[in-house]
Amino acid sequence: MNGPLNQAADRAPLLQVRGLVKEFPGGGGFSFGGGARTIQAVSDVSFDLFRGETLGLVGESGCGKSTLARSIARLTRPTGGSVWFKERDIAKLTQAEMRPLRKNLQFVFQNPQASLHPSMRAHDIVAEPLRLLNLTRKEVDRRVAELLEQVNLAPEHASRYPHEFSGGQRQRIGIARALAVKPDLIILDEPVSALDVSIQAGILNLLKEIQKSTGIAYLFISHDLSVVRHLCDRVAVMYLGKIVELAERDVLYESPRHPYTKSLLSAVPLHDPKLEKMRERIVLKGDVPSPAAPPAGCRFHTRCFRREALCSMEEPALVAGSTGQKYACHYPLGDR
Ligand SMILES: Nc1ncnc2c1ncn2[C@@H]1O[C@H](COP(=O)(O)OP(=O)(O)OP(=O)(O)O)[C@@H](O)[C@H]1O
Ligand SMILES: [Mg+2]
Repeated sequence: MNGPLNQAADRAPLLQVRGLVKEFPGGGGFSFGGGARTIQAVSDVSFDLFRGETLGLVGESGCGKSTLARSIARLTRPTGGSVWFKERDIAKLTQAEMRPLRKNLQFVFQNPQASLHPSMRAHDIVAEPLRLLNLTRKEVDRRVAELLEQVNLAPEHASRYPHEFSGGQRQRIGIARALAVKPDLIILDEPVSALDVSIQAGILNLLKEIQKSTGIAYLFISHDLSVVRHLCDRVAVMYLGKIVELAERDVLYESPRHPYTKSLLSAVPLHDPKLEKMRERIVLKGDVPSPAAPPAGCRFHTRCFRREALCSMEEPALVAGSTGQKYACHYPLGDR
């Protein structure tokens, strides 16, 4: 087969995440044992990310997307597992050991207002990561001008402060800063969620253009399945700290195997009013359980419309079906 998934399988992964775990000491509530309960934000997550691809990461608020992203980028230290990048397991490096690798792995935050230093001019914000490269002042100026052009900002924008830009322009500065050191991978954590819908498309198209011309890879986090469909080659779906399904984009959207994926997709509004009227919506019952006390067996079983007795007893592994689509479910859709 020559599908994108199989092409991807032929290439060596740029990033290999294996059994990644991130726990936080319990804050709210105490267990019956008396101690504070550990928050299991990311639990045993494994996936590969290939050069030049965009992998989407979706899931409801609180499922662990940002924690996973921050653990991979080493903005926080993972509790366990490995993150192989540039032939190193960066999960285990100290911040000092991580420093030379920073230029290969950059991060774009959700809220450009909060992530850009308010008293720095755009020029200095974009130039900041260039310190990793020991360039002359002239070289820095040239690179900043190039970057502002790349994200469709004007040269005169260089001397402005963040508050003098619109939200969309500020996110362009965040993207320019991430691109400055020519990384292999940018992790984007909800980069368009704080922006008006009318501005989102411009940023998404810019990301696509940049990828086409540079071959950069993205890990793109969003709770908006329409945005992910527009941008991503493959998509991973997270529920309560775990990846429950991972597939090539069209496969996932057209034939999800995990009931949770199906329910997420059933909530995406359709543009065609006729289809929208016929659409079968799956409304999940109950709230997402607390990550401090995840359900035994399949973590989704308490809300699942296909659950059987086995689901509360045995945790399903994330396994690949014949098409390469991976899902963690004892009774996947399409099987009966
Ligand atoms: N520093 C922290 N200390 C304690 N708990 C945390 C910390 N950061 C995140 N958590 C908890 O870990 C879980 C996952 O949070 P995270 O922010 O990764 O979710 P998310 O999927 O990014 O959600 P959202 O879509 O709202 O951004 C949540 O229960 C959250 O409360
Ligand atoms: Mg988040």
